[in-house]
Amino acid sequence: MKEQVQTSIFKRHRNPNLGKVRPYIPGPTSADVSAKYGIPIEKLVKLSSNEAPLGPSPSVREALKKAADSDDLHRYPSSAMPKLRAAAAQAIGLLPEQIVLGAGSSDTWGMIIRAFSRPGDEVLAIEPSMTSYLEAAVLLEREPVEVIVKSPFEVTSQAVLKSVTARTRVVFLSSPNNTTSRLISPETIALIAQGAPDAVIVVDEHYIEATDRYRDVSAVRLIGELDNLLVTRSLSKMYGLAGLRIGYAAGPAEAIATVMSFKPKWNVSIIAEKAALATLAANDHLEANIKMTREGRSYLLAELSKLPVEVVPGAQGGFVLFKPRTRSGDEVTEGLFSRGYMVRGDLVKDHIRVSVGTPAQNQGFVQALASLL
Ligand SMILES: Cc1ncc(COP(=O)(O)O)c(C=O)c1O
Repeated sequence: MKEQVQTSIFKRHRNPNLGKVRPYIPGPTSADVSAKYGIPIEKLVKLSSNEAPLGPSPSVREALKKAADSDDLHRYPSSAMPKLRAAAAQAIGLLPEQIVLGAGSSDTWGMIIRAFSRPGDEVLAIEPSMTSYLEAAVLLEREPVEVIVKSPFEVTSQAVLKSVTARTRVVFLSSPNNTTSRLISPETIALIAQGAPDAVIVVDEHYIEATDRYRDVSAVRLIGELDNLLVTRSLSKMYGLAGLRIGYAAGPAEAIATVMSFKPKWNVSIIAEKAALATLAANDHLEANIKMTREGRSYLLAELSKLPVEVVPGAQGGFVLFKPRTRSGDEVTEGLFSRGYMVRGDLVKDHIRVSVGTPAQNQGFVQALASLL
């Protein structure tokens, strides 16, 4: 009998980059929290993933019901999805050839890294911010570079450009930044792009629609002016489709054609396409989600200012980051979970990130927090 091999091929040839990665850890699911705290799922208030307070538009639900009865579910989707590219492009004033679709905007990050860098090149991201940018970079054998910004977490062009070297090929900026909720102004983005002409600047605008003046502060309008800029947009947040996985990257047509070569052929499903077309046509619902988010954010900021907490200034996303003054962040997070309020207390040391919910959810959260402080 053949001698038993000590380690499997899966261990011997496991990609060594896995050991270097700091994986993004999603927050617990409602089912996890329900089981841990013995709270029925329907009583939990999920303010941990910045999802749209009103969810998807009724027209999305209609489109999904129709899709269930359609006769094309066993057919492959179009790889290029021209209709959806055109609708996404129209929503932000660009041309269809300036859009590449992903199963969520996060699906495009690896495509972009592979399209514009080689193993060993540097990929830069802000800390604190979404850790998945550098997770993708490390798994693709790029060198991760973190630009650490300290409280109150303003991202300046000087701080970013100090870390840019001749080997920097991709720079990820999140605006408004998850997790601080602070915006990076178009002026700052332009300075970074001009100061790093040999790097592709990717602005992740997953929550831009929730900002007070989103058409003015979006980097999309810089796409024609700067030749090294890409913007990623999501239908997960204000459009309410997080569960369906759809988003896109936008940029100069030439850059997008290159990214398209790295797109998995059928990454977006027919179902997601139909839901996306419906949501992009549902402007009133988008505006209702935006209005509720902006008003809820103002309410939370006003109420938090009366409590013993330090709020990170300039919140513009559908979430707010704050630090309790009288108790540790961990204690307060635990107290909120045990009262049924799901938040993130594990992203920035001592801080708690709370998503904007419906008015009733926001009020309940403020009461729960006040009782803990
Ligand atoms: C900054 C940021 N970008 C993108 C995403 C994910 O976007 P998508 O659902 O479009 O992949 C998240 C998820 O929370 C995020 O925090």
